[in-house]
Amino acid sequence: MEIIITPDPAAASREAARFLAALIRKKPGAVLGLATGGTPVPLYRELARMHREEGLDFSGCTSFNLDEYVGLGADHPASYRRFMQENLFSLINLQADRIHIPDGLAPDIPAHCAAYEKSITDSGGIDAQVLGIGSDGHVGFNEPTSSLASRTRIKTLTRRTRSDNAHFFESESDVPHHVITMGIGTIMEARAVLLLAFGENKAEAVAGAVEGPITASNPASILQMHPQAKLYLDEQSASKLARRDYYRWVFDHKPGWQRDR
Ligand code: GLP
Repeated sequence: MEIIITPDPAAASREAARFLAALIRKKPGAVLGLATGGTPVPLYRELARMHREEGLDFSGCTSFNLDEYVGLGADHPASYRRFMQENLFSLINLQADRIHIPDGLAPDIPAHCAAYEKSITDSGGIDAQVLGIGSDGHVGFNEPTSSLASRTRIKTLTRRTRSDNAHFFESESDVPHHVITMGIGTIMEARAVLLLAFGENKAEAVAGAVEGPITASNPASILQMHPQAKLYLDEQSASKLARRDYYRWVFDHKPGWQRDR
């Protein structure tokens, strides 16, 4: 794991955007795995700026989002499709037919999940997967005790996640109980994983993921087994890491040729 501790979410997001931009410039047909939630918003803002001001071209890229609420369609204000449209897709030139988000209204959920997995494989696999992290260590919507080998499927949210995500809805009782999410096995197949975490509320989950045992009780801890997992943190989310001075030292002494890798 590469732990990148930055002063604030804006600096962390600029670092992550630099990595994605370098990937897209090197591989214009890159397949991007995208995430929702408050965390990636500054990253998407930076990618949109790079598109606008530096000509970063997404026209050859394909995207797959991690997850969606069951029962919410594209027109629902809290659906992830709507979130992506507002926070990224309307601001860059990704082609509509190359955008993939699980369909919360799919009539046959298992068949839809199998088809979603197949489209990821058919696209050549995800080059870089963006992730946030839940306060309980969930990634995508893979709640604690999710199989570390899981594939795209339906999941039931914990009370804590429903409460954490309630601010996107009118009230907590409006948060759906069920979601479709890429599995942990699906996420682990991405060639690079970029996890962003900001704020005190994430410090415990981050410490468990980085320095705790690999356990389904903290799904993000499986990233210890990933050959290219990069964690972009602010001071608050890094505050419970015992070895944070070492991670800073490593980053400060990174050879120049490694910077965009
Ligand atoms: C949801 C999403 C996750 C996200 C998490 C944290 O559960 N499914 O992908 O990482 O929320 O959200 P936030 O970034 O708003 O803290």
